[in-house]
Amino acid sequence: MNSTSYQIRNAGFRDVTAIYNLIKDNPNELVPRSMNDIAQNTDRFLIAEVAGRVAGIVSWFILPEIGKAEHPSVEIKSLAVDKDHRGLGLGRALVEAAIERIRVLQPEQIIVLTFTPDFFGKLGFKTVPKETLMHKLYTGCLNCSKYDSPFTCPEVAMSMTICATATAR
Ligand SMILES: CC(C)(COP(=O)(O)OP(=O)(O)OC[C@H]1O[C@@H](n2cnc3c(N)ncnc32)[C@H](O)[C@@H]1OP(=O)(O)O)[C@@H](O)C(=O)NCCC(=O)NCCS
Repeated sequence: MNSTSYQIRNAGFRDVTAIYNLIKDNPNELVPRSMNDIAQNTDRFLIAEVAGRVAGIVSWFILPEIGKAEHPSVEIKSLAVDKDHRGLGLGRALVEAAIERIRVLQPEQIIVLTFTPDFFGKLGFKTVPKETLMHKLYTGCLNCSKYDSPFTCPEVAMSMTICATATAR
C-alpha cells in the first residue's frame, strides 16, 4: 500500500456517472462508452476508491468465439486512473484484481489493446501480433474511425494466457 489509501471494490449503479466521466476524461486512450452501456455492464467494472470517491476504473468484456465457447478470450478495457492519483499503484491494483475475477472464468487468454504496453508488460502481458486477435478487431475495431485499419492503429496488442490447453487446441 502506498501513502494514499485506496480500496478496490465492485462497481454499483451509483458509480455509473463517475465511470462515464473518467472514460470521457481520457479520449485519446479510451473508447467512449455510453451511460447505458456502462449501466448494463456495471457488474463487469471494478472501482478504485480513495476517500469515498472513484479514483480509478477497469472493466472486461467477453469476446465472441465461434466453436470455442468453453474458452473464449476476455478483453480488459476502460482502464483509467484519474490524473491526481496516478503513479500510486491504483492502476496495477485494478488490473490485478480484474485478472483474478477473469481467471475464475478460465478463459483461453486475457487480451488488451493499449498505448501503454510497458505498463501491461509489468503485469505479465506479452505483445502478440494483431492478426491473432481477429475477434477483437472485428468486434471493436471494425467501426473505429480514428485509423483506416487496425493495422495502422498504433495500439499494441497484448495477451496473457490463462488456460493453456485451450490455446493448444
Ligand atoms: C495507464 C494507467 C492506468 C496507469 O495507472 P497508474 O495508477 O498510474 O499505474 P501504477 O501506479 O499502478 O503503475 C504500475 C507500474 O506501471 C508503471 N507505469 C504506470 N504508467 C505507465 C505508463 N503510462 N507507461 C509505462 N509504465 C507505466 C509504473 O511506473 C509502475 O511501475 P513499477 O511497478 O515498476 O513501479 C494511467 O496512467 C491512466 O489512467 N492512463 C490513461 C488511460 C489509459 O491509458 N488507460 C489504459 C488503456 S489500455
